[in-house]
Amino acid sequence: MSNSNENNVIFRAAPGGKLSGRIRVPGDKSISHRSIMLGSLAEGVTDISGFLEGEDNIATLDAFRAMGVRIEGPDAGRVTVHGVGMHGLKAPAKPLYLGNSGTSMRLLSGLMAGQKFDVEMSGDASLSKRPMKRVTDPLRLMGAVVDTSGTGTPPLKVKGGQPLKGIDYMMPMASAQVKSCLLLAGLYAAGKTCVTEPAPTRDHTERMLTGFGYAVERRGNTVCVQGGGRLKATRIDVPADISSATFFMVGAAIAAGSDIVLEHVGINPTRIGVINILRLMGAELELLNEREAGGEPVADIRVRAGKLKGIRIPEDQVPLAIDEFPALFIAAACAEGETVLTGAEELRVKESDRIQVMADGLVALGVDARPTPDGMVIHGGRIGSGQVDSHGDHRIAMSFAMAALVASGAITITDCANVNTSFPGFVDLANKAGLGLTVDPA
Ligand code: S3P
Repeated sequence: MSNSNENNVIFRAAPGGKLSGRIRVPGDKSISHRSIMLGSLAEGVTDISGFLEGEDNIATLDAFRAMGVRIEGPDAGRVTVHGVGMHGLKAPAKPLYLGNSGTSMRLLSGLMAGQKFDVEMSGDASLSKRPMKRVTDPLRLMGAVVDTSGTGTPPLKVKGGQPLKGIDYMMPMASAQVKSCLLLAGLYAAGKTCVTEPAPTRDHTERMLTGFGYAVERRGNTVCVQGGGRLKATRIDVPADISSATFFMVGAAIAAGSDIVLEHVGINPTRIGVINILRLMGAELELLNEREAGGEPVADIRVRAGKLKGIRIPEDQVPLAIDEFPALFIAAACAEGETVLTGAEELRVKESDRIQVMADGLVALGVDARPTPDGMVIHGGRIGSGQVDSHGDHRIAMSFAMAALVASGAITITDCANVNTSFPGFVDLANKAGLGLTVDPA
């Protein structure tokens, strides 16, 4: 746990209620990580607003401070990064501790492979079980010297001073973290680094590199960078995180009488699987006031309660909604008929095994949910009351909190401290919108 002494944080969610009003959820986690990384390596001062002050992003920020970057903030989402240039990072005095954050470790492994110094990176119990071979294999092809535990998990040790060469890599899985890792290593490699993805994944790294003045070549599912360039500081306005907005979208879609507007949400086409899937299920969802902020499309999202129906989730939507399935499973539990998810085996290696942990929680609440190796089959019906274990997974805890809106009795959710990794202030905001959540210990 990122807070080992707090892993007994319990959410008690009272049954019933509806969501209403206008709220802005915190900043996008993926974009916030990248803003610190690229801002640190840029020449000049990068001003960030809307930065997510969650534990995962603070882990990234602290890592760059430990490598000698002067960073002011965060203060109400404002961060000022005094970039040190591509070759200005310094060896940290001790291993970098990255808590629960897989994104920090995987993206940093690529960046660290290009440095002159050695680095060791470690994480909490969950991160220590997550697969790193997916980044170490291609990094080795580039000439990096990286070590993991015998099972390919953290701690990850990167040896400095290794010349890297560009590669042409076909990713075996649709992963933005692997793609980003290799592009970041590619900034330091001789020649060109190209990554081809089997299906589109979030493209925040490519967009932000462009925003920092770095040329990125995109052709179909392939993206390439030429090593040896420079980054120029810029301004970054981080939109609200669609993955955090998801809990409220699902809550409003399932709870009778709900009508909520989620403000300034990032609607990058590589992230809107949740909108597409909820619409296929019949949700009443409108995108209002579509505009652009800092190279990313944003909109206000209005969601009203409606009748949901079970669907077969199109596999091409899976990478575009990869973090949203815990909440989507709750929507499926409230839909009429059967919802079938396939092609989502990646869910088994997230902060928890999200297929097993969600199925266990749904079954504990009386829902007909059957896990499969690569997805789940859920028969919609009534959600009962009871106790579920989030296994320290932030998105599982928040998803079951929303389930209480339609449950027949209270839902108790254990091991919730990690909600702070992505959504500080969740309980207050959720209660303001209409949930009845209390936290133990208060
Ligand atoms: C992320 C990519 C996704 C996602 C994670 C954040 C990113 O992981 O699950 O929360 O910021 O690049 P994968 O790329 O491994 O699917």
